[in-house]
Amino acid sequence: SGRARPDSASGPAAGEGAAGPAGPAGAGPSEEDLAAAGLRLEVDGAVATLTLDRPERRNALTFATWRTMAAVGASLPPSVRVVVVRGEGPSFSAGIDLSQFTGEGGEGFPDGSDAAETEAFIAGLQDGYTWLRRPDLVTVAAVHGHAIGGGFQLALSCDIRIVADDVKFCMKEPALGLVPDLTGTKPLVEIVGVPRALELCLTARTVLADEAARLGLAERVVPREDLDGAVQELVQALLAVNAEAAVATKRLLWQAPENTLEQQAAAERREQVARLRALSALRPTP
Ligand code: CAA
Repeated sequence: SGRARPDSASGPAAGEGAAGPAGPAGAGPSEEDLAAAGLRLEVDGAVATLTLDRPERRNALTFATWRTMAAVGASLPPSVRVVVVRGEGPSFSAGIDLSQFTGEGGEGFPDGSDAAETEAFIAGLQDGYTWLRRPDLVTVAAVHGHAIGGGFQLALSCDIRIVADDVKFCMKEPALGLVPDLTGTKPLVEIVGVPRALELCLTARTVLADEAARLGLAERVVPREDLDGAVQELVQALLAVNAEAAVATKRLLWQAPENTLEQQAAAERREQVARLRALSALRPTP
């Protein structure tokens, strides 16, 4: 049987896998919570812009950043259709704030001695990214400068990447003795395939804009000064499409790689039945 749930075409909040359901949008993190997590959030009708806002630390990511991002995802108003993730200052993100490993100024990274506890800890951080795949949102990473480790994985967690010509992607974790564990390995492999993903991760080398475009890590490369404009252009184009069709199509496309052709064809039929019903309900009866 196909992976689409029988009711999968009926509502926008059908979460996929670990992303979970959208949940009721409620009071999100306060301005203070956001600032303490190095984030800024602007919601303008159908568009939410989440800015990594610690440029003096190259938008290094803390435990608070990931947890607050999860809270942002869970509390976005239902009006939001597109989320833009961007970085303030010279770089998108320098990855995990290295102070998190030393426990400087608070909580430190668990040492793994309690496997279940450590996994639960990491799961809490992963929640910061997984909602970006929710079918009721289209998520766009606007990436410039360095996108290292957890920063690269954040860009990979979005549906679409628009990058500046100064972009520098690097999966640095293996060079630090770690694995990329913020849900980035799946999208990386989906985009570039296992051999290239291996080569990139196990050398921790830097991928520049031209290669990023060639590998499919960037849907578009633009001069640095044009990045915001290019993202706005894309956002307007995304909003011009029927909202419910967009949700159903995203749901369909993200399940395609794991479905057989038969399963996918069945999923297309189910989604289309729901679309046709919705469209005919709008038509005036003769
Ligand atoms: N954590 C904490 N502070 C960081 C940081 C990070 N990841 N990256 C940069 N900073 C700080 C610098 O220490 C510096 O602070 P001071 O002004 O107090 O000296 C400030 O930000 C500006 O940094 P640079 O002067 O180095 O800026 P640059 O533009 O010349 O270089 C950079 C930028 C290439 C990102 C460089 O800072 C760098 O290599 N940073 C470390 C990157 C890194 O190793 N990240 C971890 C990746 S692994 C991961 O993310 C996931 C995981 O789970 C393991």
